[in-house]
Amino acid sequence: MWNRRKFIAAGAALGTLPGLVHADEARGMLTKPIPATGESLPVVGLGTYNVFDVDSTTEAIANSKEIVTRLTGAGGSLLDTSPMYNRSERVIGDVIEAGVVRSDVFLATKVWTDGRDAGIEQMNRSAKLMRAEVIDLMQVHNLRDTAVHMRTIREWQDEERIRYSGLTHYTAGAHDALAQEMAEFKPQFIQINYSLGEREAESHVLPLAEDLGIAVLINRPFQAGRLFKAVAGKELPDFAREFADSWGQFFLKFIISHPAVTCAIPATSKPHHMADNLGAGFGTMPDASMRERMADYFSSL
Ligand SMILES: NC(=O)c1ccc[n+]([C@@H]2O[C@H](COP(=O)([O-])OP(=O)(O)OC[C@H]3O[C@@H](n4cnc5c(N)ncnc54)[C@H](OP(=O)(O)O)[C@@H]3O)[C@@H](O)[C@H]2O)c1
Repeated sequence: MWNRRKFIAAGAALGTLPGLVHADEARGMLTKPIPATGESLPVVGLGTYNVFDVDSTTEAIANSKEIVTRLTGAGGSLLDTSPMYNRSERVIGDVIEAGVVRSDVFLATKVWTDGRDAGIEQMNRSAKLMRAEVIDLMQVHNLRDTAVHMRTIREWQDEERIRYSGLTHYTAGAHDALAQEMAEFKPQFIQINYSLGEREAESHVLPLAEDLGIAVLINRPFQAGRLFKAVAGKELPDFAREFADSWGQFFLKFIISHPAVTCAIPATSKPHHMADNLGAGFGTMPDASMRERMADYFSSL
C-alpha cells in the first residue's frame, strides 16, 4: 500500500481541508510501491541531464555530491542518467567514490544505441563508470532498438546485474508508440514527460501504466525550466499556500499526486534547488479536485 492511504487517514483525523490530503510527516518522504515488486520508491528523485555533465574537478564533484547528499538525506534515492548525458554517469561514479553510499541511491540509466553487441558494450561501460556492480533500472532510451535491448536487459536481470527494466521517451508525439511497446514488452518502468505544461500523458499512457502495473518516472517535470519562466514575478496563489512553499513544489506536487505516477526526476545543478524540490515529497498532497484547480490556475496565467 502506498503511503497516501495513511495520509488520507491522517488527514481525516486532522480535519483535512477539501481538496487536500495531509501527509504523515513523521514517516519521512512519501513513497509509492513499484508495482512489479512492491518495493517502495521515494516520490522525488534527481535527473542528471546537463546538470551532471561537469568536469571531475574537486569543486564540481563536491557540488554534485552535495546535491545527492541532500536527496538521500531527505529520504530520496533515484538518480536518472544516460550514456547520452556525456559525463553524467562518470560523475555519479565520482560521487559514489567521494562517499555517497551505493545502497542509498537507486541508479537508473539507459541504453541508447543500435544492436545487441553495442548495447551490451554500453551497459558494461555504464556499470563501470557508475561503479555499480548492479544497476537498479536499465531503460531503453527513446525506444531505440527496444526489442533487441529488452532481450539483453532480461538476460542481465536473470544474472542479477540489473534489477528493473524500463522504456523512456520525452515527447507526447511518441506516446502512441510507447503505449504499443508497453503492451508488447511489459517493462517494469516507463519514463515519460508530464507536467502542468504537458498533460498529454493523462489521456492514455498513465491509465495504461496503471492497468499494466508499470511504475512511472516523470521526466521534464518543469519542462526543462520553462514552467518557472511562465510564473516569473508571480506569487503563489493563496489556495496553494496550504501545500506548497514554492513554485517548484507546486509543479512537483501536481505530478506526484497523480495516482499512476511513482516518482518525478527534476534536474538541478544547485543544492538549494534540490532542497526545494525535495520539499514536494512532504506535507499536504493535492487530491483530484485540487489538481484540477492547479491546472486551471496554471492555464489561466
Ligand atoms: N528521453 C529521456 O529519457 C529523457 C528526456 C528528457 C529528460 N530526461 C530525464 O529527466 C530529467 C529532468 O528533465 P530535464 O532535465 O529536461 O528538465 P526539468 O527537470 O524539467 O528542469 C530542469 C531545470 O529546472 C531548473 N530547476 C530545478 N529545480 C528548480 C527549482 N527548485 N527552482 C528553480 N529552478 C529549478 C534547473 O535549473 P538549476 O540547475 O538552476 O536548478 C533546470 O534548468 C533529466 O535530467 C533526465 O534525467 C529523460
